[in-house]
Amino acid sequence: MPATVIVGMQWGDEGKAKVLDALCDEIDIVVRYQGGANAGHTVYVGAERYAFHLVPSGILHEEKVCVIANGCVVDPAQLLKEIGELHQRKVKVDGSNLKLSDRAQLVMPYHKLIDQLSEKSKEASGRKIGTTGRGIGPCYVDKVARSGLRVVDLRRPEHFRERVAARLDELNPILKHVYGEPVLEANKVADEVLAYAERLNPFIADTAQYINRALEQKKRLLYEGAQGTLLDIDHGTYPYVTSSNSTAGGAATGSGVSPKRIETALGVVKAYTTRVGAGPFPTELLDAQGEALRQRGGEFGTTTGRPRRCGWFDAVAVQYAVEVSGVDALALTKLDVLTGEKELKLCTHYLVGGERLERFPADLARVEQARPVYETMPGWSESLEELRDFSKLPKAARAYVERLEALSGAPIRYIGVGAARDALIRR
Ligand code: IMP
Repeated sequence: MPATVIVGMQWGDEGKAKVLDALCDEIDIVVRYQGGANAGHTVYVGAERYAFHLVPSGILHEEKVCVIANGCVVDPAQLLKEIGELHQRKVKVDGSNLKLSDRAQLVMPYHKLIDQLSEKSKEASGRKIGTTGRGIGPCYVDKVARSGLRVVDLRRPEHFRERVAARLDELNPILKHVYGEPVLEANKVADEVLAYAERLNPFIADTAQYINRALEQKKRLLYEGAQGTLLDIDHGTYPYVTSSNSTAGGAATGSGVSPKRIETALGVVKAYTTRVGAGPFPTELLDAQGEALRQRGGEFGTTTGRPRRCGWFDAVAVQYAVEVSGVDALALTKLDVLTGEKELKLCTHYLVGGERLERFPADLARVEQARPVYETMPGWSESLEELRDFSKLPKAARAYVERLEALSGAPIRYIGVGAARDALIRR
């Protein structure tokens, strides 16, 4: 398929990078279309662990081109740090295989500061979102308020300085009077960011044009979604969400291509559920079983190191995600983590005050009150990591996958059975 989008079906951390990595042989270009350094994508190559935040994980494949498109929010310091680390590990990264949109928004130092201060001030009232502190929300706020700075602005230093000064005129009183913080000096802030301009310059491109030309040349594209459907600003558990469209629809506006040109959506879903940060999570396990999943699954945030909240598979949430992104097929990840569980539970619907709910509700109060209703299935004890053929899976594992597939409403084409790069069953 010329253009496929990979989207998370839960609250992020579904294992999208691993699926993308496995599909890389079939594609030419990988595009990030939303989010920023809040994302954490981990890939293992042999014993080597690579963790990406901004650079698309496709960069490990030398002949692929990676694009950070206009829908992303880019922290220049973080981007250059990742590029530097990749260079140290002898991975090729230059203007020929990494393209940064001239229209992407810049995460400014004050975005990170406001993100952290705002979270701190919400802590006392229990309204903390549990953000990654990477300045994502405040940067998108500025974008929508038309006060943001874009990558292209780095090319006009005087104009850049003026816009930083104008923004700080509004922001400094907030820093001083609301948060009791020292004010920021516009020139200092502008200098700090402009200092990155020269090193970023080789990567800057009109990426919408690049992508559209590539599609005309029948190049195969893969859009790498960050976060997951339930963290989407429109469709997620608002306000406990990220600030961008992490669903498939975001790929069109986030990269400057027509939705007609994105032909396939592949949803990535974990065999159980995790969530980092605050917000409702109906199937959360707050007991030893949740802790066991966390330990076995290595469920600690790639970006912040925070322990992830863990729970059973939630078909109500996944069905909703399959619909919102028009998912054609699913990749199921981390099935191996369930090995050793005597019994497995799948949430088929919720009960809210005695009412049966099969549709994920908009009202957060209802999600918070939702009592998950489970089907129980037998577990298995055999190791799955070496298996590459669906028919060789233990019978109970096959039954679990088939039931999960029926409940989710989309065929499962890939099954992750281990951390290794090739630990994937194609079906
Ligand atoms: P922000 O994106 O840093 O503003 O954080 C908003 C919410 O999204 C928080 O609950 C974060 O934990 C969550 N979040 C952001 N990025 C990721 C991710 O890549 N994986 C999982 N959760 C994420």
